[in-house]
Amino acid sequence: MSELFQYALVDHVGVVTINVPPVNALGAATRQAVMAGMTQAWADDGAKAVVITCAGRTFFAGADIAEFDTGGFADPDFLTLFNAIENGPKPVIAAIHGTALGGGLELALHCHYRIAVPSAKLGLPEVHLGILPGAGGTQRLPRIVGVSAALDIITSGKPLKAGQALDLGIVDRLATEGALVEDAINWAKEIIAAGAARPRVRDRDDKLAEVRGNSAVFDEFRQKNARAFKGFKAPEGIVKAIEAAVNAADYDAGAKREQQLFLELLNSTESKAQRHVFFSDRLTAKVPDLPSSTPSRDVKRVGVIGAGTMGGGIAMNFLNIGVPVTLVELKQEALDRGVGVIRANYENTAKKGRMTAEQVEQRMALITPALGLEALAEVDLVIEAVFESMAVKRDVFGKLDAICKPGAVLASNTSFLDLNEIAACTQRPEEVIGLHFFSPANVMPLLEIVRGAKTGKDVLATALAVAKAIGKTPVVAGVCHGFIANRAMEPYMMEAEELALEGAPIEQVDRVIRDYGFAMGPFQMLDLVGLDVLGRDSDRKTVMSELVRLDRLGQKKNGGYYDYDAQRKATVAPAALQVIADMAAERGVAQRSFSDEEILGRLLYPVVNEGAKILDEKIAIRPSDIDIALIKGYNWPVYRGGPMFWADTVGLPKIVAALRQFEAAYGARYAPSALLVKLADDGKTFGSL
Ligand code: 3HC
Ligand code: NAI
Repeated sequence: MSELFQYALVDHVGVVTINVPPVNALGAATRQAVMAGMTQAWADDGAKAVVITCAGRTFFAGADIAEFDTGGFADPDFLTLFNAIENGPKPVIAAIHGTALGGGLELALHCHYRIAVPSAKLGLPEVHLGILPGAGGTQRLPRIVGVSAALDIITSGKPLKAGQALDLGIVDRLATEGALVEDAINWAKEIIAAGAARPRVRDRDDKLAEVRGNSAVFDEFRQKNARAFKGFKAPEGIVKAIEAAVNAADYDAGAKREQQLFLELLNSTESKAQRHVFFSDRLTAKVPDLPSSTPSRDVKRVGVIGAGTMGGGIAMNFLNIGVPVTLVELKQEALDRGVGVIRANYENTAKKGRMTAEQVEQRMALITPALGLEALAEVDLVIEAVFESMAVKRDVFGKLDAICKPGAVLASNTSFLDLNEIAACTQRPEEVIGLHFFSPANVMPLLEIVRGAKTGKDVLATALAVAKAIGKTPVVAGVCHGFIANRAMEPYMMEAEELALEGAPIEQVDRVIRDYGFAMGPFQMLDLVGLDVLGRDSDRKTVMSELVRLDRLGQKKNGGYYDYDAQRKATVAPAALQVIADMAAERGVAQRSFSDEEILGRLLYPVVNEGAKILDEKIAIRPSDIDIALIKGYNWPVYRGGPMFWADTVGLPKIVAALRQFEAAYGARYAPSALLVKLADDGKTFGSL
């Protein structure tokens, strides 16, 4: 018997248990094991029904995503295997625990019966990989739950809890937690006693018949979601596949259409980008010189210094997981305001029904507000979020050194400052690290972990564990101005301003970036964030600093690049155009028009170039970490795969050539980096690193 499956006969029921750690992904070896296990069960005369289940933490988590890049599927392919199960001689029950996802759920939908423990989750998350469920999911789910629900479930990719799946008819029964296989066997005995029927999902038609001849359900769905689906290919593929389920001549014709659409999506750049993101996301926590055995420290109590924009959001991350937070401010008024903002945030969530009033109070009760750093003597981790000033940070860390207990981790949320200089203000630089959150800190999924020259390995391991505990994606960065995400995006913000000065209409610049896939363009973003955030302390005169001087702070006050009416509808602001025109005249900048393509290159190629420098200087561990930092920190469109992946799809020689042109026209800051040039010359990609 293969190590990947076990077969046992229990009271006339053949039990096939698949065991392919960690998640029973349905790669070729797993499919072969399923086929072998089923064949044994079919051949066993003593078995009148079959239970298929998985060992380890979960039922099949879907296709092996790595197999998608191998150019084909080894035998048996999904449908050969699944059809064999459905058309086999004995009733088959899928017994589900953990997560039945993608191909895993599709396998279950080819079984004749489904039972799950209450803690199980079931879903078709393929959309997140830029594909559709390609092993019958789009044909079978609507036959069970109806077209409307299937459209929602498959295009959202959100897993359902077992109880919801039961209500929708996706599973037939819930098992007792911890007694899944026993319950499945008992049910199998009932099925045998009742005549061993083998109902097939493919034979159901009533739910499809309800909408046949009525295309409105699809049209309305497309319309309703146009904004959310923009740029992604998979949702439209899913809608088309479900349309085929309804309108094709028969099941097989619909399934054939699903296959065709699946392969189209699989080969799309969007899907390749999303698969890149799937694996890159799981790679960021792996640090080459940090063995997984590195001990980390217990973090049972956290201190946050500064209850401003960032401090409050940072604190919420810990309150949300039940960790008490001591929140320190300079003055009572600032402290009260900070605590008040946290409360208002939670109360808002409660109003939306996503939290109970009791939970709000529980979280608030975990805060100990305090004036003065002395309150931090006993915390295990301090996160400093005071003003972005080296003098202030040096003062704070010098004092913390004297106050905090030995073994406490001392972290700074600085956006740009030199962490090594901050660490040097203490006698314990090995305990100092950067924990750089992104605003709003309770929402944005990225946590940049800045590793100082002397940061201890156990301190780094602790930071990675903290990120995991609070549900953030960590990206480890070395020390430099702006670390990874802010540094890579700095040229983008600068280019936007330069383009405006050269005559590119700001609404064109914003549109080009939206068309690329960002939710908003650079000027819209600045207006939303508030121009004062970046423009107030600007050491040079810029359009932004001038707008701030005119008290135009963006949406929050007087408008910024745009004016806003009572409904927040934006129109380009004449006042901003005047500032731009005056500054262009003052600096003698020639005015001209720009193609969309040139604008895109001017804004994004410098980001790629900066990313290459970040890699060359070993500030980032790998190109994909830069992709994840910008996707999770700046909402870079997922289906572009991040700047480095995208650069590979554009072609590095093309980017180098464009940068050289910019360099010739506008100066040395565009010079392509040594790494970028070398990769382009060698015909290599960032992916090859
Ligand atoms: N294929 C290949 N590898 C997978 C995988 C998959 N479907 N699912 C997980 N893995 C790998 C991860 O990369 C990770 O590898 P690593 O240890 O080397 O980093 C390991 O398994 C463990 O994964 P997680 O760290 O994500 O484990 P969690 O316990 O946190 O989560 C999970 C488990 C919920 C199953 C999560 O891994 C997950 O969501 N997986 C993806 C599920 C999915 O998208 N399935 C659909 C695939 S497409 C499909 O089925 C097409 C079909 O329609 C034809
Ligand atoms: P903020 O001005 O909103 O809040 C800073 C708070 O720190 C103020 O409430 C102030 O009273 C308090 N403070 C100052 N000195 C203090 C001291 N010695 N002891 C106790 N409290 C003190 O600033 P914000 O935006 O929250 O930024 C804080 C840090 O986070 C900065 O280093 C900034 O660069 C960084 N950051 C900011 C982001 C943002 O989008 N605002 C994003 C990521 C990082």
